Amino acid sequence: MGIKKSRRGFLRQAGLMSGIFAAGKALGENVGIFSQKNPGFSAADKISVGVIGLGLMGFGDLETALKIQGVFVGGVCDLYEGHLDRAKEIWGKDLYTTRDFRELLERKEIDAVIVATPDHWHAPISIAAMRAGKHVYCEKPMVQKIESGLEVVQVQKETGKVFTVGSQGVSSVATIEAAKLIESGAIGEINCIQASHDSYHTMGAWNYSIPTDASPQTVDWDRFLGSAPKRAYDPVRFFRWRNYSDYGTGVAGDIFIHKISAIHRAINSMGPESIYATGQLSFWKDGRDARDVMTAIMQYPALHGHPPFQTELRVNLANGGGGSSDLKIVGTEGSIELRGNTMLMRNQKLPKAPGYGGWDGYNVFSSRQQKAFLKWYNEKYSTADQAKIPATEKRFAAPAGYDDRLDHFRYFFESIRGGKPVVEDAVFGLRAAGACLACNLSADQGKVIRWDAEKMMVV
Ligand SMILES: NC(=O)c1ccc[n+]([C@@H]2O[C@H](COP(=O)([O-])OP(=O)(O)OC[C@H]3O[C@@H](n4cnc5c(N)ncnc54)[C@H](O)[C@@H]3O)[C@@H](O)[C@H]2O)c1
Repeated sequence: MGIKKSRRGFLRQAGLMSGIFAAGKALGENVGIFSQKNPGFSAADKISVGVIGLGLMGFGDLETALKIQGVFVGGVCDLYEGHLDRAKEIWGKDLYTTRDFRELLERKEIDAVIVATPDHWHAPISIAAMRAGKHVYCEKPMVQKIESGLEVVQVQKETGKVFTVGSQGVSSVATIEAAKLIESGAIGEINCIQASHDSYHTMGAWNYSIPTDASPQTVDWDRFLGSAPKRAYDPVRFFRWRNYSDYGTGVAGDIFIHKISAIHRAINSMGPESIYATGQLSFWKDGRDARDVMTAIMQYPALHGHPPFQTELRVNLANGGGGSSDLKIVGTEGSIELRGNTMLMRNQKLPKAPGYGGWDGYNVFSSRQQKAFLKWYNEKYSTADQAKIPATEKRFAAPAGYDDRLDHFRYFFESIRGGKPVVEDAVFGLRAAGACLACNLSADQGKVIRWDAEKMMVV
């Protein structure tokens, strides 16, 4: 049963790719010049998007972005020839392609870029893109190193470009519903948040396919390394970069980040003040240095009338019991569970009267004392005070086919077109990434990390 669950998770991910293949033809219309097939839509509202990093997520993000009216693809940049060939198969042979992101940024007709490279490239490319006048949709986590985050925040301020991070759960209707309920006091005072992600699948453990034509000719290895330590060409590191701390951010930056971003949206928090994490590489001993099991405890300060509370996070990429992903926000009068784009709120309120029974001492009172106690109790508490308050449940599910990534992109493009500021801006992105990356620091150093969420720095 567990394995079935984990397969479902994998198939959901695979569904993303089959969508790309199926959508190829239709999306071909959105190549190059703004399609005139948008009746009633002003050409002035057109947005030309370039993608930098056209792997699994780059293709998925572009496919999603192109569903929005007036958005079309202006060019793509990647370091593996096979991905550029695939892009031309889908979006037409005239599609502009390059291996050098700076060349793509020089193209005046491109308004916005999606940065879906490995994590170590997020900050440098985002900064260069905003300085080149482009709006940026940067995949999560916003930065690979906490230290580079403030520069992203600063450059966004200086340039005024729209910048958003790609943790799409932040824009999910289920997360927004949870946020409204929590703000209204529906689950009382928050005291604990728990989130976990378990997986039992090779792909879930990031062992992505390596194409048979990978070679120093088809892969631009030196560009991939960037500021990472120099080493000889290694296709395993290139295609499975998540497994190495030189390029990725481990389970904390890859998976905790989705949970923390959704939590920060749901409870409207800047982040924790202390973080402790521990973890190890248990099972996937294939040369990687990333942990496959990690647990973190984060202490959040009092906020919006809630007393201080804790968040517990766990990832296990080798859970032989099967895969699942959960997020539960617990309060004194209820709890909210978020799973995918669904939400379940359970409420249980205690009656005013404290109750009495066998295990509270009543049964070992003498018969005379039991009678006296009952008389006192019934005089003190009315029948209404003693009545059990029934537990209730409230469910919320997004409509079938709902895609939170599409909403996330919609907010991004609406913001470019002069709408509201995005929620997951650079400050939000750094507060979430900082808390997660501090888990790696904590596990590496074996100590509690103090985090100043307001200033966005380790203290
Ligand atoms: N939001 C989500 O749910 C989600 C899901 C998966 C991945 N992601 C994020 O998306 C990003 C990409 O992940 P992926 O799974 O698509 O990885 P991937 O390896 O499939 O794709 C990365 C691509 O970037 C290219 N690349 C590397 N360095 C580059 C550079 N300097 N310039 C241009 N291209 C470069 C590689 O050639 C590769 O094709 C990661 O940051 C990851 O955390 C987000």
